[in-house]
Amino acid sequence: MYTLKVKLPSKNYEIYIKKGLLDYIGIKLKDICSSNKIAIITDKNVNAIYGDKLSMYLNKQGFITKTIVVKPGENSKSLENAEKIYNDLLDFKIKRSDMIIAFGGGVVGDLAGFVSSTFLRGIPFIQIPTTLLAQVDSSVGGKVAVNLPRGKNLVGSFYHPNAVFIDTDFLKTLNKRYLYDGMSEVIKYGCINNKNLFYDLLQYKLESDLFDNLDKIVFTCCSIKKDIVERDEKDLGERMILNFGHTIGHGIEKYYNYSYYTHGEAVAIGMYNITKKSEEVGITQKGTSQEIKTILHKYNLPYKMPNLEKSKLIQPIMIDKKNNNKYFNIVLLKQIGEAFIHKIDLKEINKFI
Ligand code: GLY
Repeated sequence: MYTLKVKLPSKNYEIYIKKGLLDYIGIKLKDICSSNKIAIITDKNVNAIYGDKLSMYLNKQGFITKTIVVKPGENSKSLENAEKIYNDLLDFKIKRSDMIIAFGGGVVGDLAGFVSSTFLRGIPFIQIPTTLLAQVDSSVGGKVAVNLPRGKNLVGSFYHPNAVFIDTDFLKTLNKRYLYDGMSEVIKYGCINNKNLFYDLLQYKLESDLFDNLDKIVFTCCSIKKDIVERDEKDLGERMILNFGHTIGHGIEKYYNYSYYTHGEAVAIGMYNITKKSEEVGITQKGTSQEIKTILHKYNLPYKMPNLEKSKLIQPIMIDKKNNNKYFNIVLLKQIGEAFIHKIDLKEINKFI
């Protein structure tokens, strides 16, 4: 088993990574959970495949559980849904010493984390991410949020879980499109911080090579994220590097109303296109965008900028919560494995997007 310890001023917690970890979850939680009551927040798809199994492992260890099921998809990350869950938790008589489990992908993790951070001023929670994207990104680092009609993740906080349990066997039942969706974030880690990861991924011949190495790959990605989050928990500086490809990616997702490209696909397009531009202006080593294109193609990810109205793409980028009115931070590569934050004047945005 791979283990990582996240050390923050307010909290330390462990990330465990292992194939088949779900089978030990009840025993593991005995050490972490001081009470015997656990609310599991999950979605319909995850619940249908793994819900009974998780409850059984917890009940076997004496935990009393209640499963709260939400609809799969981004629309579930709403204040309205959070209120429904608060009522379910009240019915279950959850107290501050009890525990919530976020059992699902990024939507469930963000929503359950948000509910945990606010209900009774904070309930301990555990992340059990079931998608690759959630395993390498959203379950680690404490960002929890819901959406408002005017934008994604506009209400939330930094609220860290008490532990993260990553079982890569969940990925066996993950729809292939969503496996590659998560691979986009994995490739991102290679681009920004770890060229060995990038070139290993390029080298794998078969999908089975990828599956054989998943624990190690997820560990590498979580280690990179953990180190960055420890240095910049509140996303004021270095953590922005995790957003490589995301400026254009978020713009594309929004342009298509979150219904055409997955997050990972939009980020893939973002990573390639911003690197192509930064190569053209001489910031990035020549040939880097071609390498990104090759790896994206290998993992069934798009790279071509869709034919869209550029002004409509740029508009949501300008109102991103990380920008002020004059300057704009974009994440660029010097070369594969080395990213940096580049501050540009808003007038220069056309050079990069
Ligand atoms: N997903 C980027 C971050 O956690 O900062």
